Amino acid sequence: MRAVQVSEYVKGPLDLKVTEVPTPTPAADKYLIEIHSAGTNFFDILQIQGKYQHQPPLPWVGGAEFAGTITALPTSSSTTPKFKVGDRVFGATQGAYATHILAPEQALLPVPNGWSFEDAAGLFVTAPTSYGGLVQRAGVKSGDWVLVHAAAGGVGLAAVQVAKAMGATVIATAGTQRKRDIAREFGADFVIDYRDSKWPELVKKLCKENRKGNGTAGVDIVYDPVGMIDASLKCVAWNARLLVIGFAAGKIEKVALNRVLLKNVSIVGLHWGQYARFETPTVGEVWKGIFDLVAQGKFRGTAFKDESFVGLESVPKALAALGERETWGKVVVNVTGNEKAKSKL
Ligand SMILES: NC(=O)c1ccc[n+]([C@@H]2O[C@H](COP(=O)([O-])OP(=O)(O)OC[C@H]3O[C@@H](n4cnc5c(N)ncnc54)[C@H](OP(=O)(O)O)[C@@H]3O)[C@@H](O)[C@H]2O)c1
Repeated sequence: MRAVQVSEYVKGPLDLKVTEVPTPTPAADKYLIEIHSAGTNFFDILQIQGKYQHQPPLPWVGGAEFAGTITALPTSSSTTPKFKVGDRVFGATQGAYATHILAPEQALLPVPNGWSFEDAAGLFVTAPTSYGGLVQRAGVKSGDWVLVHAAAGGVGLAAVQVAKAMGATVIATAGTQRKRDIAREFGADFVIDYRDSKWPELVKKLCKENRKGNGTAGVDIVYDPVGMIDASLKCVAWNARLLVIGFAAGKIEKVALNRVLLKNVSIVGLHWGQYARFETPTVGEVWKGIFDLVAQGKFRGTAFKDESFVGLESVPKALAALGERETWGKVVVNVTGNEKAKSKL
């Protein structure tokens, strides 16, 4: 098979090469999948440079998220396999920048009806992070006001959609006009440029003008994948919940806790990847919730559409674009060709 194999750490994505490596043989406890599309993540860039928390022994194939077709079942399994040959699946495990991959059943889900491989390849990480954060951790409900930071990013666009589906009003922040337009396209009610240092004042103004009671002071929930909890505490209502999702700005914040007390608010973390280990039943509940929203037409794919990345040779360019903060939604590489043009089953 062909794959973006890392035999030594590289300086950056543009140093990556596509090589011929042996196709994995069907395994006892894993499905063999032909990959059609692969999702990119910022941690892929860290991993190829040797800077990520999970570094397999060299050599290894880069990439984590994918969507494709099952070509072989586990060769020996104590239970009946959930999927059959030909099923369309998406999932995440090491080695997605390749034409084939082996994956265990718990790392796979069925591609939703009507979805392209391209859109499904970006679903496995972002959707449950945002649903788990907003629904399970922050208890979002109809009538809430939710501030979503970096709303045009991968987890951000998922958060905008989940919050809207739950009946909330969404204020979205993003750094460029194009990204703010995208956040609106995905349902945000208000958009704010958070490169303007006065953005907390703008959030407060919107709440004052459009809300009643305690809500005039600010939002009920903050969804923060950037590292903006401290500034966000300036524009929250009594009893607000602030979700610590990530640190895309590269700095781990220190927060003035007096505001947490004075405003009677909660700062809540979420580590989605660890739910499979510590809270398995919630994983199923979250995915059921997401598939219900998809079936109701309230959650759609967020694949970046301003540029196409076709073939494994485009992985370096796709990762470079992601790293330069030029993109929105999920940057997806269509490994087998133009998945957008293919029929949606
Ligand atoms: N807690 C969890 O379980 C979990 C799960 C998944 C992801 N995450 C984390 O969530 C964060 C966002 O993930 P994502 O997939 O949405 O990433 P993404 O698609 O790359 O989006 C990140 C956004 O952050 C904003 N940003 C602000 N400062 C930035 C900077 N200095 N460099 C780059 N981007 C910056 C950018 O929006 P603007 O240009 O509009 O500012 C960008 O669109 C990451 O830190 C990731 O590790 C956490």
